[in-house]
Amino acid sequence: MEADIDHVLFSREDIARRVSEMASDIARTYHDEEDVGLTLVTILSGSLIFLADLIRELPMRMKIGLITVSSYPGKSTSSQGARVLQELNTDVTGRHVLVVDDILDTGNTLRYVCGQLREAEPASIRTCVLLRKPSKAPPDVQADFVGFDIDDVFVVGYGLDYDDHYRNFPHIGVLHERVYAS
Ligand code: XMP
Repeated sequence: MEADIDHVLFSREDIARRVSEMASDIARTYHDEEDVGLTLVTILSGSLIFLADLIRELPMRMKIGLITVSSYPGKSTSSQGARVLQELNTDVTGRHVLVVDDILDTGNTLRYVCGQLREAEPASIRTCVLLRKPSKAPPDVQADFVGFDIDDVFVVGYGLDYDDHYRNFPHIGVLHERVYAS
């Protein structure tokens, strides 16, 4: 697996440090809103490790909602458009919603998911991404909490995949071009 990684961008220690800082920001933001109820809506599958680490750093009451969206099916390294594979499994009407995603790239996924969520009339919607590609993220799709900004490279590890592999690589690294060129 490691032979397919061109170079590591963020080590597991870098990620742990940043996730902890993000959790502090998030906890501060929702400090006075706990009575309404917070639901973290997580976009699977890429966000699963991020979610697991993030929620253990968040000291408040919350529910977890899951929605499965695929934008990069199989061996794609460019977005094929957001497609819901599994609908959201909880009602968010009247609740504060924090959407958790692994990466904000073209913005198609967050735009689609936030649009769906708005129909349920939640109390608020905010978004949280571990990674963002500022050169590609469109102006109409903003993230309220961002872990790291990165260049337009295809990254894997810490939950992010290529053809469903490399999710278990503990760091975030740039996938070697020869893997998807072949
Ligand atoms: P969009 O383009 O909709 O992308 O903002 C969001 C979803 O696409 C996947 N994605 C990636 N997955 N390396 C990956 O492993 C990448 O560089 C990458 N860029 C986008 C990801 O699932 C994300 O939720």
